[in-house]
Amino acid sequence: MTGAPAGGSRHLLSVADLGAEGIEEVMRVADAFVEVGRRPIPKVPALRGRTVVTMFAEESTRTRLSFETAARRLSADVVSFQVASSSVKKGESLRDTAETVAAMGADAFVVRHPSAGAPAQVARWVDAAVVNAGDGWHEHPTQALLDCYTIRQVLAERAGGAPSIDCFRGLRVAIVGDVRHSRVARSGVLALAALGASVTLVAPGTLVPSSLEGWPIAGVAHDLDGVLDSIDVCYLLRLQLERGAGAFVPSLREYTAAYGLTARRAARLAEGALVMHPGPMNRGVEIADEVADWPRSVVLRQVANGIAVRMAVLFLLLGHGAGSDPAALMADAAAESADAVDERPGDRR
Ligand code: NCD
Repeated sequence: MTGAPAGGSRHLLSVADLGAEGIEEVMRVADAFVEVGRRPIPKVPALRGRTVVTMFAEESTRTRLSFETAARRLSADVVSFQVASSSVKKGESLRDTAETVAAMGADAFVVRHPSAGAPAQVARWVDAAVVNAGDGWHEHPTQALLDCYTIRQVLAERAGGAPSIDCFRGLRVAIVGDVRHSRVARSGVLALAALGASVTLVAPGTLVPSSLEGWPIAGVAHDLDGVLDSIDVCYLLRLQLERGAGAFVPSLREYTAAYGLTARRAARLAEGALVMHPGPMNRGVEIADEVADWPRSVVLRQVANGIAVRMAVLFLLLGHGAGSDPAALMADAAAESADAVDERPGDRR
């Protein structure tokens, strides 16, 4: 990413574009935006005059809303382009569509697509920054960033100290469930491993990708009960029924019996272990209702942090040139936010 010391790319297509240093920079900038989110007017003028296009060719609730909220909080103009109700339905190609939208003026494209590699293609066609918001089974880098951010935040609160990526060193994370169809797992493994965590995939053989070459994992386990008491984070994946995952398990009931985080299993987690899920959850399948709502489950925190993390990503891609000092960026953001609050009519201080 531009402005990210490690990546240098002007797009965010994969977690690999960032490396540990780039991930850390996103987190540091997100810290400032979490703070902005707590203000009476949670908005900064950092991207005033810039246009962010969200181009979604797949269903989404939280990711699209999260990116659009992030862009608006940075004062960017947001163009929400839903492929399902566009000329793509009349046979227009993705390339023509992207170039048409780009010709109207776009500084960033946030792209979700059912095909792996579609955001990378868009990046070749348009002269704008492209953020991958989930491409097929491939990657979902901002989900991994917000997940890591949430872990770092919760562990710092518990320790009563400043957030630090040192908390990932040796952290034992189990990613449980439909890894085969999961872009969240691919990006998550890359990010967690880059930060020093030890990741174990826990899934039936049918839901493990046929090749794990290049996956920086500690191992694969087929028995969830066997790992419960030795993990710090239990990260559950949704069974991707729309991608045919139902054909890879004997039945939903049997899947839940072996791999669901039931209340009985959750009680066996180590004290303080976090329960995470990217959403949307299949309650009663991969996660029991009561476990989803447990105090230890940080699912809604993940959603809330998604806005600040996506603000940081858009800000680093569009707000400043390469080599910007993150501390200066944060000071900028804070000052700009203070101005925005000062500008409220009837509330001048
Ligand atoms: C994920 C996705 O779409 O990849 N959801 C999300 O972005 N919050 C995971 C999923 O759909 O299971």
